[in-house]
Amino acid sequence: MEKTINFIGKNKNRFLEELFELLRIPSVSADPNFKNDVQFCANHLADHLSQIGLDGVEVIATNGHPIVFAQKIIDTKLPTVLVYGHYDVQPADPLELWNSPAFEPIVKKTSIHPEGAIFARGSCDDKGQFFMHVKAVEAMLQTQELPCNVKLMIEGEEEVGSPNLSLFVANNKEKLKADIILVSDTGMLANDTPSITTGLRGLSYVEVELTGPNRDLHSGLYGGCVANPINVLTHMIASLHDEQMRITIPGFYDKVVALSDEDRREMAKAPFSESAYCEALEITTTQGEEGYSTMERGSIRPTLDVNGIWGGYTGAGAKTVIASKAYAKISMRLVPDQDPEEITRLFINHFEQIAPKSVRVKVTPHHGGQPVVTPTDSMAYSAASQAYEYTFGKKPIPVRSGGSIPIIAMFEKELGLKTILMGFGLDSDAIHSPNEHFGVFNFYKGIETIPFFFKYFSQAHK
Ligand code: BES
Ligand code: MN
Ligand code: MN
Repeated sequence: MEKTINFIGKNKNRFLEELFELLRIPSVSADPNFKNDVQFCANHLADHLSQIGLDGVEVIATNGHPIVFAQKIIDTKLPTVLVYGHYDVQPADPLELWNSPAFEPIVKKTSIHPEGAIFARGSCDDKGQFFMHVKAVEAMLQTQELPCNVKLMIEGEEEVGSPNLSLFVANNKEKLKADIILVSDTGMLANDTPSITTGLRGLSYVEVELTGPNRDLHSGLYGGCVANPINVLTHMIASLHDEQMRITIPGFYDKVVALSDEDRREMAKAPFSESAYCEALEITTTQGEEGYSTMERGSIRPTLDVNGIWGGYTGAGAKTVIASKAYAKISMRLVPDQDPEEITRLFINHFEQIAPKSVRVKVTPHHGGQPVVTPTDSMAYSAASQAYEYTFGKKPIPVRSGGSIPIIAMFEKELGLKTILMGFGLDSDAIHSPNEHFGVFNFYKGIETIPFFFKYFSQAHK
């Protein structure tokens, strides 16, 4: 990979400039106002993939946002790596909390990123990360060092739950035929502590609506006499955790696979500072399920969180009113072998059951996803491990992450393929938040590490 690494070294500035171009396109998948920008982003990406020498480049229309596909088949006898990523991004709001505009990328130094970090929506999640693959593939192509076949599938709906990708995958098994899926859409422990993500949590997401009286009421005339949906909702939500911070939904933990003491000891070896964690978030202490460490609570244990809650009067000053309705959005992060559909059902039953007669409950399920674990004893994992060892000079630590990429479990089900999660972001990179950023070091390190995965993976296949 000598020529490849040389090529990368010579083209670093151009790579960054090209990423900036991608980041300037506000490809927000959730907001219909950005539909044309999402399409523009797909076209721009496809043009770029053609320019770097990939074949069969397509912008594939779906019922939602398009999928971009490209490939290079150098020899059908060689193995094939299928790279997955997403070019869509989360909405940038609240805009006023950005120190520089979300779609005007800029490099600024931070204490964690002394070499500078790229500030822009999507810089880390996931444009900056899938673009590392584009540049790594370009470098291998241009230097004739690509050791196997490669396919790229970059979708535009990950941040809205990939509603159309499953159908595409199910209908295009031959097109997507590969030996391994490679994804950079997760993180690593620290720039001097490389890690490989070996698990993702599943997701069940519901919206609840409580209705009390048929109209908003004067809180003096009616207060204390009728159910106040907001009071009731907050009470019900509070009851979803017990004193030990365990989730009280009957059956919720039934399918949870407990980690062995050995696995937990192994996990505890990953460097983690509780005080640095608190300091970075300006909190005095962490909080979570009794009997588990912060690392465990955030990865191998299931959780339930209110993501939004609203109702009643929230404008200026005081309005004395009892609202007719109250709402909340609730996410549950799941671990093997919890099933999102079953958990959603358990939630609905329980929530209806604990509601007092004085209110009506409506629960609407949103997108969900299965949890994922990747084995560390596979050939693909050791290829990834060797790649990191080569470029970081250190063996990467396997770490299970708390986030979700629902489509990964579907890949395994539909294509029978395992995924290697080579993430180069940091938890502190503020993905989904204002001032999202991605280390310049991380961007280049990713571009340099990926070719070695290709190399070791192809070698092991011989
Ligand atoms: N890339 C993230 C998931 C992620 C980030 C996993 C960091 C591990 C570490 C992905 O784009 C994402 O945001 N997923 C959503 C779920 C999706 C259905 C909107 C999530 O985890 O909330
Ligand atoms: Mn992502
Ligand atoms: Mn995301």
